[in-house]
Amino acid sequence: AFDIELRSGRVIRVAAEQTAAQALIAAGVPLLTSCEQGVCGTCLTRVLAGEPEHRDLYLTPQEQAANDQFTPCCSRSRGQRLVLDL
Ligand code: FES
Repeated sequence: AFDIELRSGRVIRVAAEQTAAQALIAAGVPLLTSCEQGVCGTCLTRVLAGEPEHRDLYLTPQEQAANDQFTPCCSRSRGQRLVLDL
């Protein structure tokens, strides 16, 4: 599990058995998803701090390495906390 922090400072826990997108939507955060498999880019979200664990096929390796955006439908966090531009 890991935590997502929103711009407001609100913290949302992502349990091991759910995706970041599921946790955000369950918490009432507006987030659009489509493929939910990391291919379409619909859910792409800016990362303000932390290091995503990229599991998508949408971003190039260079874009993934930049650590400034990720796909919450399938990607997770390497650390305990990811701060998102939401
Ligand atoms: Fe398609 Fe996340 S919903 S990449």
